[in-house]
Amino acid sequence: MASLSNYLMLLAFVLATIIATISAEETLSQCGEHIGAYCGEQVIQRLKGTDETTMSTTCCYKLLQTGYPCHTRHTIYILENNPELKHANWTELFAKSDKIYHNCDVLTKPGTAEFVATCTENLGSECGIQVYNNLIHDKNITKDCCERLVKTGEACHVAMTKSLIRNPEMRNVDAIQLLNKNTQLFNYCLHV
Ligand SMILES: *[C@@H]1O[C@H](CO)[C@@H](O)[C@H](O)[C@H]1NC(C)=O
Ligand SMILES: *[C@@H]1O[C@H](CO)[C@@H](O)[C@H](O)[C@H]1NC(C)=O
Repeated sequence: MASLSNYLMLLAFVLATIIATISAEETLSQCGEHIGAYCGEQVIQRLKGTDETTMSTTCCYKLLQTGYPCHTRHTIYILENNPELKHANWTELFAKSDKIYHNCDVLTKPGTAEFVATCTENLGSECGIQVYNNLIHDKNITKDCCERLVKTGEACHVAMTKSLIRNPEMRNVDAIQLLNKNTQLFNYCLHV
């Protein structure tokens, strides 16, 4: 896993360097824009080594939603533009960048793929769609699906939502807000 992600990082770096020299500077800065100034600052502090802790939950989800290649491009963007980091050892900084992503991956992990798959199967696609529509489109869920959701259990409910939030297609949702909404839905279903 670690060596695979190192490999991917190296590949992304090479590609990004080629792209950058061809002039798609936006790609690098767009990744930065998506991560945003607040979480970008957290990344910078960890690259500089002034903060060794795992990034905040919000920023970790943001990183996962952004995806590994974009995180790497964002790191390149930081290295190219930060006077302190520009002339530091990039090999070491990329190792740090990899660790930042890895720590966030661990922090936001919904559980094993098998666990999430079992949860998804137990909930069923019909109720899965209803839960999704509740979380994303504020639609209500039927009594039947509520019962099924409760039967599936809260651990499953949380795992499925974490797994959903980590998806790059969800990159514009606020992870904490969605997790709170998720709890509300479960509590509502407990009392239907
Ligand atoms: C950069 O860091 C790596 C790993 O610590 C090391 O092997 C390499 O020699 C360093 N490069 C320079 C130019 O200092
Ligand atoms: C719809 O679902 C929400 C929970 O997400 C609940 O708070 C609300 O009362 C429900 N509305 C109706 C009309 O059932």
